[in-house]
Formats: sequence, C-alpha cells, structure tokens
Amino acid sequence: MSYKKVAVVGAGAMGAGIAQVIVAASTEVVLMDISAEFVQGGMKRIEGRFASDVKKGKMSPEEKDRVMGLVSGSANHDDARDVDLVIEAIVEDRKVKGELFQSLNRVCPPETVFATNTSTLSVTDLAGLSGRANRFLGLHFFNPVHAMKLVEVIPGLDTERAVVDAATAAMKSIKKVPAVVQDCPGFLVNRILLSYMNEVFLAAEEGIAPGLIDGEAKKAGFPMGPLELSDMVGWDVSDHTFPILHGAYGERFPSLKLVGKLNSAGRLGLKTGGKGVYNNGEIDDEFRAMVAGLNSKGSGAPFSFDRLMLKQINEAVYCLQEGVATAEDIDRAMVLGTGFPNEAGVGGPLHWADAMGLDWVLSRLKALTETEGPRFWPHHLIKTYVAAGRLGKKAGRGFFAYQ
Ligand code: 3HC
Repeated sequence: MSYKKVAVVGAGAMGAGIAQVIVAASTEVVLMDISAEFVQGGMKRIEGRFASDVKKGKMSPEEKDRVMGLVSGSANHDDARDVDLVIEAIVEDRKVKGELFQSLNRVCPPETVFATNTSTLSVTDLAGLSGRANRFLGLHFFNPVHAMKLVEVIPGLDTERAVVDAATAAMKSIKKVPAVVQDCPGFLVNRILLSYMNEVFLAAEEGIAPGLIDGEAKKAGFPMGPLELSDMVGWDVSDHTFPILHGAYGERFPSLKLVGKLNSAGRLGLKTGGKGVYNNGEIDDEFRAMVAGLNSKGSGAPFSFDRLMLKQINEAVYCLQEGVATAEDIDRAMVLGTGFPNEAGVGGPLHWADAMGLDWVLSRLKALTETEGPRFWPHHLIKTYVAAGRLGKKAGRGFFAYQ
C-alpha cells in the first residue's frame, strides 16, 4: 500500500477490523484509543480474527505472528507522529471527532492524510474541524470489516484529487473494492440500507414479529435479516445515525422509538452478549413489553416485504438522480457492502426494480403512499422512466439496458 504506516483510532469492532485488514496486507498499524484497556480489547479482537484464520487453515501460525508483529497499540496521540494516514473509527459524535482531529493535527506531519469512518456525519464538516481540509476524506468500511468487500471513498468539498486517488489505490491494495461517492448524510450505502432499516423498525414498532421480517428478508435472498443485522451493528450505532438521517431527509426517515428504547435498556446486540432485539436467538418478554407500548396499528396488521424493498428502491433512485453515484456503482456497492441479493452476478436495488418492472414499482409506491404515508411518494424519475416506456428488463431498458 502507498502508506507505510497507518494510525487507526478507535479500537472497537470497526477500528479493530480496519487495523486487521491493513496489517494482513503487510502495512504497519498503530491502534489507538482513549485507554490502555480499550486498546488491549482491540488487540485481542485482531488476535482472535487471525487465530480463526489459522484454525480454518487460511493462514499459517508463522504468518499470524508476522502480521501481529505489525500492529502496536497506544493510548497516546504522540504515537501518531510518524504515520502517513489516520483512520478514525470512534464514537459517532461531531464534537468528539473534531477534538480528536485537532489534537492529531498538532502531532502529525502536514502530509499525513486524515480519514473518517463516520457512518453519517458530513465529511466536509469534519474536514473543516480538522485543520487540514485538503488532506481529509471519508473511508467508510462495512461490518464485519474482514468479510465485506466495499469501502466508500468520500471526498469533502476541499479534498485534493491526489488524496482521493491515493486512498482509492490503497483500498484496492488491502483487497477492498472502493467506490467513490458524494458527501451526503449516510453517503450512498447507509442512505439506502437505513431507509430500509427505518421501515423495518417502524414495522417492528407496529408489532410485526422480528422473526417474520427477518425470515422474509432471507427468503428474498438477503444474507441476514435486517433485525439480526442491527443486532450485529449495535443499537447504540443506530441510535446515533437515525436522528442524523431524519434531520437531513425529514419524513423519508421518520423518527423511531424502538431504537432509543433498546439503546437505553443496554440491549445493544452482539456487543452486549447477544441481547438486542433477540436474546440469543429468542424474543424475550422485555422486548415484547417494549413493543407493546409502541404499537400504533393494533396487532394483526398485514405485512408485506415489498414495503421494505420499495423503501430502499425509492431512496436508491434519489441517490441516482442526485449523482451520489452511478447506477452501476449503486448496485455494486449495495451488493458488496450489504449482501443485497445478487443472482448470477446481477443484483442491487436498481436491477431488482428493473426485474420487477418500473410500472409495477410505481404503482406499488403509489399504493404504499396511500396506506403508509408520503415517505413512499414515488421519485419523479420513476414516473419519467415509465412514461418513456423504459419499464425495465421486460422492455429491454430501465435503469440498465438489456439484450
Ligand atoms: N460478526 C463478525 N464476523 C462475522 C459475523 C458477525 N456477526 N458473522 C459472520 N462473520 C464472519 C465469519 O467469521 C466469516 O469470517 P471468515 O471468512 O474469516 O471465516 C465471514 O464473516 C463469513 O462468514 P460465513 O462464512 O459464516 O458467511 P455467511 O455467508 O454467513 O456471511 C456475512 C456472513 C458476510 C456477515 C453475511 O451474513 C453478510 O453479508 N451480512 C450482511 C452484512 C452487512 O449488511 N453489513 C453492513 C452493515 S452496515 C455498516 O456496517 C455500515 C455502518 O456505518 C453502520
């Protein structure tokens, strides 16, 4: 990789995962956090991942020792003084991130590139706080980092082109697939994924059984149910991200009650010993009681998985029209970042819409606008495509061209 030494700040699941994939590609990393205890926790996670690789025969014990020798831990910002790249993966809080970058700006040489792994905060805004906006960008990894191929590369308004190109090349050298996307709240993948998740949580608040939602998702070809996925990502993360998306996009991301309840009850998911929506795979009384107070529609409300799919399709079209990414990149990113169903190498929300027919998509969105509300208002681009006869695969042309 073009960077000789990298500081990864934040030794939680994401930071440790990022450090692990970088040392696996033979680049030195210093893993940093606010206390020696947190750093140790991150080092243990990395060691555990490599130990699993050895167990599965993917790595020799000697190779494990070699790559573990490339990672050191520190709770002192001074130890970032000789790094070429900083990747920040700390708590999703603008002020805390800003203070971190300001401290590192005093320590690191002027050439050092700063990157944030924020899920939803503005890269341009954080760049402004950092004191080196021209050498600042977003590098957004997906959980679990070693398994998900995608990294979103997000330039801020002032990021130098050479910084973006070097970071993009570096992501390829650690065996990731980079997608350069525009800086907007949620960027590309979280905007589409969390649009779906938002609807999932509303459905759960209505009393739709988590097992039914997750089962339908898996039937549709997703590798995990959305509620299982939220248990993996952590409800503390969700509780930070959804208000940001609501603030940015208003009623397309309605406020949620369940997320805050799970977070304040300390049911964060896998990181709290498997207790989130599920309690080690089961729905328990505490979760039932949480939902009981929220149910707005009364039990027995009908549920269709289309509702969840169409929410993300509509948001994908917003991203396309705003130029956040191309149609090809939108679909590739959703497949590589979230495991969106990808049969025979053709998948992603826009291919899905083309396969279903854009006339059907339009009429379902109209019907859902009637029953669920204006958050389903069909994007005008869908109406334009339908009016032009670009109905998707059956017409030979939709978001993509077909033979
Ligand atoms: N936590 C950590 N690692 C896990 C895991 C978990 N819950 N579940 C599986 N893995 C690891 C396995 O250890 C395995 O590692 P290995 O390849 O080194 O042995 C690897 O993932 C693949 O696991 P499996 O062979 O069991 O394969 P699966 O077919 O079960 O796939 C998966 C597992 C890759 C996690 C798949 O279920 C998937 O793609 N899920 C969707 C994940 C997703 O959407 N991530 C994005 C979340 S959003 C995000 O991160 C953005 C942030 O800003 C919030």
